Amino acid sequence: LASLEVDLSNIEPGTTVTVKWRGKPVFIKHRTEDDVKLANSVNVASLRDPEEDSTRVKNPEWLVVVGVCTHLGCIPLPNAGDFGGWFCPCHGSHYDGSGRIRKGPAPFNLEVPQYSFMEDNKLLIG
Ligand code: FES
Repeated sequence: LASLEVDLSNIEPGTTVTVKWRGKPVFIKHRTEDDVKLANSVNVASLRDPEEDSTRVKNPEWLVVVGVCTHLGCIPLPNAGDFGGWFCPCHGSHYDGSGRIRKGPAPFNLEVPQYSFMEDNKLLIG
């Protein structure tokens, strides 16, 4: 299946873009320093699906996650919810700025797809 190349140079800090990859939305969030600090300030042991932020990103500035709620598959809304990340309006799941589930019925964090960084500010998903 195809990989997708994404140019990151026009994605301003603090914003999220959605691209389509293998029929699914993928969120790319250009995180600010504050976003990164917030994501690292969490007591990981208290999380439903405990994962360090550092294990979910290759470069702290960029969060790349599959935009499918792990509850029943709706598409969460960016820059929404109580934890600086996403809110799924279907049944009220809140994800944080690392895409980790923080509140609501979803059982798991948003999935991190396979990706790598290429030269010239380009991301390769897949
Ligand atoms: Fe997202 Fe149910 S599908 S909360």
